Amino acid sequence: MTTKAFVIGHPIAHSRSPLIHGTWLSQLGIDGTYEAIDVAPAALPAFFERLRANEFAGGNVTIPHKEAVFSLCDSVDALARKIGAVNTLVVRQGRVHGYNTDYLGFLGNLDANAPGWSDGAKDSLVIGAGGAARAVLVALAERRGGTVHVLNRTLANAQALVDELGAGHFQAHGFDAFPALAPKIGLVVNTSSVGMHGSRFDWLDLGQLDQNTLISDIVYSPLVTPLLADAKARGLPVVDGLGMLLHQAVPGFADWFGIKPTVTAELRARIEAT
Ligand code: ATR
Repeated sequence: MTTKAFVIGHPIAHSRSPLIHGTWLSQLGIDGTYEAIDVAPAALPAFFERLRANEFAGGNVTIPHKEAVFSLCDSVDALARKIGAVNTLVVRQGRVHGYNTDYLGFLGNLDANAPGWSDGAKDSLVIGAGGAARAVLVALAERRGGTVHVLNRTLANAQALVDELGAGHFQAHGFDAFPALAPKIGLVVNTSSVGMHGSRFDWLDLGQLDQNTLISDIVYSPLVTPLLADAKARGLPVVDGLGMLLHQAVPGFADWFGIKPTVTAELRARIEAT
């Protein structure tokens, strides 16, 4: 019987997930489908009834449903609760379990493209304190030593997030803290939407960072954000956001279709070309 999976969102046309999962399905010769389904917020409970009827093995959840599905799932994993968002569902015997794969996607991308990234004793600097920052912060606290400095335009938002996640690993700052922190930093991660529209941070003087500092952006459109372009021009090591998108898709596919897929250069090239 054909195994079916989905991505739900509203709107959903922009999603690259069907191309990622469709590529793996055909490469691995699996009798399965992965379809994008536009589900308006009001239609979400009815969609969950289809899930409980075992129509699908599971699927992905995107904007605006990542928080709303919490109360509809039969169980939600502890990490997804901490991150505050569910992006993946798996259905087993009519029960819907929710979890979050952004955490694993972030770590998988760095492990694949910057081996040894977590060995350094230096601190990390995360720009932004919105929804996208949460999985990154939880992952960094788990895998990398040192303090994680959260720099945000609105200091109160960074402080609220740090207070919620546990102040032990994290410190909240405004952008004006950068010059004093720069010598201590070994990794920079941009999680803010700045960069999506070609803008850069005027306060972020990369020349103040150690020459080995790894610069990463979780924004993948454009693939080379102004931050990454500036870092490359200075010869700093960089990791872009497309790898996180590809790696976050791995655990869901493995749960629905029973085979762990591989993030290959060929898959990446295919997604880049779209
Ligand atoms: P997401 O859920 O995708 O992370 P979000 O919750 O709207 O989106 O968060 C966006 C993040 O980008 C926030 O940290 C926001 O800073 P504020 O807390 O000050 O709003 C940051 N951000 C968005 N536009 C920005 C800009 N022009 N300059 C600096 N930071 C910006």
